[in-house]
Amino acid sequence: MRQNQFDKKSQAWSALFSEPMSDLVKRYTSSVFFDKRLWQADISGSLAHAEMLADQGIISAQDRADIERGMVQIKQEIESGAFVWQLDLEDVHLNIEARLTQLVGDAGKRLHTGRSRNDQVATDVRLWLRSEIDLIATLLTELQQALLDVAEKHAEVILPGFTHLQVAQPISFGHHMLAYVEMFARDAERMADVRQRVNRLPLGAAALAGTSYPLDRDRVASTLGMVNDKGQPQVCQNSLDAVSDRDFAIEFTAAASLCMVHISRLSEELILWMSQNFGFIKIADRFTTGSSIMPQKKNPDVPELARGKTGRVVGHLMGLITLMKGQPLAYNKDNQEDKEPLFDTVDTLKDTLRIFAEMVGGQLNPATGQKEGGISVNPQAMEQAALRGYATATDLADYLVKKGLPFRDAHETVAHAVKAAIAHQVDLSELPLAVLKEFNPSIEKDVFDVLSLRGSLHARDILGGTAPRQVRLQIERHRARLT
Ligand code: ARG
Repeated sequence: MRQNQFDKKSQAWSALFSEPMSDLVKRYTSSVFFDKRLWQADISGSLAHAEMLADQGIISAQDRADIERGMVQIKQEIESGAFVWQLDLEDVHLNIEARLTQLVGDAGKRLHTGRSRNDQVATDVRLWLRSEIDLIATLLTELQQALLDVAEKHAEVILPGFTHLQVAQPISFGHHMLAYVEMFARDAERMADVRQRVNRLPLGAAALAGTSYPLDRDRVASTLGMVNDKGQPQVCQNSLDAVSDRDFAIEFTAAASLCMVHISRLSEELILWMSQNFGFIKIADRFTTGSSIMPQKKNPDVPELARGKTGRVVGHLMGLITLMKGQPLAYNKDNQEDKEPLFDTVDTLKDTLRIFAEMVGGQLNPATGQKEGGISVNPQAMEQAALRGYATATDLADYLVKKGLPFRDAHETVAHAVKAAIAHQVDLSELPLAVLKEFNPSIEKDVFDVLSLRGSLHARDILGGTAPRQVRLQIERHRARLT
């Protein structure tokens, strides 16, 4: 005798099967213990579908009312933890549908009219990801604001700028922070761009070929907020593509990977800068840990982990893109494997952004209205490092060019001057004028204006340059952009 459609002993989908699935296969194929986090999207999608079915006269108004009533209860059960998720019911979709049918009877069984789990799951993942992208956008704004606060405070602080990790030219610490603001601004742009393609409706594609019911797909898209910036509904235009491609998840993960790479670069710098050899900055103790054996240690665990987790997210990108590459049209079960990497990418990125905003910018103290406990900077250590590295050598070359020397000759002359300074263990600015004149007679007293770190810094007063005046202009521009 056949069991009821959703009875535990039979499969959820059919009377066709002559033997039950083995426990191992059930565990292998079921996704409910990770895809249950799509439950809100699943219910929203079902409600929009049911509302449309009723308005199109495909189900009755009573069915629709029953479905809504059932979903209200299911929502409460899930939120309170009372909902019993069953491995036997494979995934979030079948679990919710089965419970609905238990609660409201035949109306629950009619919900799936004109729909397949294939277009259902594609819709759910898109709805879920859309709301996560919106959270990520907010977190990216907060991180940029934290960096802007630090940049503003330290616009005049001089840091050696590096190429090849060798001291190159003096730069403003604020300017250095603004480089990261640019990166995270582009990450936010990429997220906004991806969002447009995530926010399209697969429902109505059914299993793969579309459906013979007169569904109103535009209407469902509008109900679910899948609209463009002009408010027009965004609907996937080919049923085979709608149910099968996960390129939206891949491009999101690519954008997330780039964002993590930017965080990883920042992490690497924080780790270097807080080492004893640099001593440029400190981060608050709550972001560091001690060593179980070496009592003097304060380890930058948070930036190190962020650098490590970047590999994990990039790995998810590789996983997802490989998942897609061999799949024939249309839906294949392979696609169930999109969820764990996607979920973990979102979780990792959100946690990392949150923690970095606080680590960089500090935490708001409600008593003072000020942020406290962000990174603290040691300007003396930074300046000393810039001085040790002959960071103004280019400025001396530029000075000679202004006196009429061709740049290549000036470059060579300065190399000799640096060699002499190294031999005397002094900075270029500490060489007496008489000594400097030996390298080129056109050098005058005013050379000391350009040989100082500050002179060098303020001289680069060009769009995109490091002069503190430019740094302040950029900060203003970013602040206006972010409000
Ligand atoms: N759990 C499945 C997934 O995540 C839902 C779609 C299943 N469809 C199917 N025909 N087996 O992709």
